Amino acid sequence: MNAKAIAPANIAFIKYWGKRDAQLNLPTNDSISMNLSNARTVTEVEFSTDFRRDKFWLNGKKRDGNELEKVSRQLDRIAEQAGKKRLFAKVESENSFPTGSGIASSASGFAALTVAAASALQLELTEQELSILARQGSGSACRSIPDGFVKWNQGESDESSFAVSLFPPEYWLIHDLIAIVDENRKQMTSSEGHELAPTSPLFASRLEYLPGAIGEIERAFSQKDFTCFGEIIEAEALSMHAVMMTSQPSLLYWSSNTVALMQAIRQWRKEGVEAYFTIDAGPNVHIICEDKNAVTVKEKLLTFPGVGSVLDNLPTEGAKLI
Ligand code: PMV
Repeated sequence: MNAKAIAPANIAFIKYWGKRDAQLNLPTNDSISMNLSNARTVTEVEFSTDFRRDKFWLNGKKRDGNELEKVSRQLDRIAEQAGKKRLFAKVESENSFPTGSGIASSASGFAALTVAAASALQLELTEQELSILARQGSGSACRSIPDGFVKWNQGESDESSFAVSLFPPEYWLIHDLIAIVDENRKQMTSSEGHELAPTSPLFASRLEYLPGAIGEIERAFSQKDFTCFGEIIEAEALSMHAVMMTSQPSLLYWSSNTVALMQAIRQWRKEGVEAYFTIDAGPNVHIICEDKNAVTVKEKLLTFPGVGSVLDNLPTEGAKLI
């Protein structure tokens, strides 16, 4: 009873920040993302009567405590869906991106774990059911199940909150160049951060502005209007960070290198190189540009002071068995 799956991380253009239900990971808004071709997790799951407890290796290192617990809980959910009393499992996971690169692996990790464990238990699930299960493990993991460009509809309940593909990966060749400016682990996990979102006086107005932004980004996608798209994603990342900064306690994820790069990207645009930034719950900057500008932007990033490395991603398919 074993199976192996691969799943991509994803970058959100419209972010998920704030939960209506922390147990089920039901979000306070819809979000939109792209799967990342060079940030993937491969996970193998084996259930056996020989095992006396669950064991979890990540990048060749045995994990215990909180990390193991989260994996075990996800296996419980999947076994429950299969209606089986579950056996203990061995889970081996490898990230394609460098450890400590500051790229969150929970989305790719939980998507790969869900697909591999469901298959090892001979569960035949639809994409929608896999997305729901992945969401229960880690919210944004539900967006790593479908292909390409993805929308997570917040839904009203456990059964209606899942992600769907808006466009296949080949629809639009846009790059996410991830500039690593800080390799340290973030000071506050996203789970803790989500809880603080409603303490910001800006949170309610963010939720009011989001449906309009989603409508506009969907229009920009359908017309492949990169300028409109870029302006929306940059404003949207700043909106999420404004909520983070003004929550209590205040969360400030940026370093001085983050800010320097944000300023530089705006300057490059003035000079005719069209690129936009988006930033998750950490200091690293995701630079979004069209294929025709990717080489130029990458060269600029690699010589920018404070940028340690750059990970070049194109849109890619969602989680798959291998
Ligand atoms: O899925 P989580 O709980 O790690 O939250 C993800 C939060 C952000 O990365 C900041 C935004 C997003 O939508 O991916």
